[in-house]
Amino acid sequence: MINDSDFIDLFIPGPVNVSKDCRDKMSLPMIAHRSDTMSDLHQDIASYLQKMLFTENQIILSTSSSTGLMEAAMRNCVHKKGVLSVLNGAFAERWNKIAQANGKPTDTLTVDWGKAVTKQQLKEKLEEKEYDAVCITQNETSTGVATPLKDLFKTVKDHDCLLLVDAVSGAGGLEARIDEWEIDFYLFGLQKCMALSPGLAVASVSDAALEMAKTVPNRGLYFDLLDLKKYHDKNGMQPATPVIPIYYQLQYQLHKIMDEEGIENRWARHAEMANYTRNWLKDKGLSLFSDENVASNTVTCVNSKGIDVAKLKADLKVKGYFFATGYGKFKKTNFRIAHMGDRTLEEVKKYLQTIDQLT
Ligand SMILES: Cc1ncc(COP(=O)(O)O)c(C=O)c1O
Repeated sequence: MINDSDFIDLFIPGPVNVSKDCRDKMSLPMIAHRSDTMSDLHQDIASYLQKMLFTENQIILSTSSSTGLMEAAMRNCVHKKGVLSVLNGAFAERWNKIAQANGKPTDTLTVDWGKAVTKQQLKEKLEEKEYDAVCITQNETSTGVATPLKDLFKTVKDHDCLLLVDAVSGAGGLEARIDEWEIDFYLFGLQKCMALSPGLAVASVSDAALEMAKTVPNRGLYFDLLDLKKYHDKNGMQPATPVIPIYYQLQYQLHKIMDEEGIENRWARHAEMANYTRNWLKDKGLSLFSDENVASNTVTCVNSKGIDVAKLKADLKVKGYFFATGYGKFKKTNFRIAHMGDRTLEEVKKYLQTIDQLT
C-alpha cells in the first residue's frame, strides 16, 4: 500500500509535483461522458488550449500518454513519401521507432546528443529526398536541449513537409506559437510543464494534417484523427470514454495559467529558473551537457564531473527530494535538474543549496 512517506519533492523532468488545489479537482463527482456538462468542459478546455498555444488549429484530447499521440501523428500524417526524424536524444529516437513499428518509410537525421539540428543540416537532408513529414522534439528531456522551432519551420515548409513536434517537456514552459511557426501537429502530456497528473495528452492539429489523414489508409481505430475530429465536432465528445477527472484538473489549471499567471510570464519564470541553474553550475565548476545556446529552460542537463550521481540521489532522498540522474547511457556521467511546471525560483534555490551541502 502506498503511504505518506512515499511522497517526496519531485525534481525530475516529469511527472512533477501537482499542487493541492489541482489535485483536489480530481475528486469532483463523476459526470456522464455524453452530457452537456462534458461538452461544456471539453469546449472550454479546447478554447483555452488554443489561446495558450496561439493557434486556431483543431485541438485533440487523447486519453493516453504522449507516446499515443506520437503514434497518432505518425499513423495519420505520414504516407508513401515517408518521414524524416531528427535524432538528437533518446526521446527523438522514439519518433523513429514509432515510424518503424507502423511500417512507415523512414529516414533519420542524426545530430550529436546535446545539440540541436541546424537550418543548414535540415535543408541539406530535405534536398536529398521528398518526405511527407519531419519530426522534431521541441525539448529533448534526455539531454536538456530545446530545438529552436522558430528558426527551422520555414525550412520544413519550403520542402512541402508537415511539421510534427513532440513538445512533451516543453509545452507550457517554452515559447510556442503554433500558427506563426506553422506547426502541423504539436503534442504533449500534462505531467511536465503543465504540472498535472499523467493520463491525458493534447495535440493541436492543422488543416493540412487533417487533409493528409484523409489520404492515408490504416490509420487505426483509437488514434484515427478523422474519427477524433468527428466526435470533437459533435460538441466536444470522444469516441471512447475519456479520463474525466483529469479534464477537471486541466480546465482549472488552464484558467490559472491564462487568467492569473499569463503564458508569457510562465515562459519567463521557466527562463529565470533555468538561468539561475546555469549560473549555479558554472559557479560550482560544473558544465552543461548541452550546447549553451540551445540549453532548455525546463530541464538542465549537467556533466557530473566527479560527483557520484548514485550517492547524491540517495542523499537527496533522505533530504526529501527525488533527484534525476542522466538518461540512459549517460546515467552516471550526467544529472538533470528539472525546473518546470509550477516550480518557483525559491524552490530551485533551496534545492541547489541542498546539493551544495551534499557535494
Ligand atoms: C520529450 C519526450 N517525449 C516523449 C515522452 C513520452 O511521454 P509518455 O511517457 O507520457 O508517453 C517523454 C517522456 O518523458 C518525453 O520527455
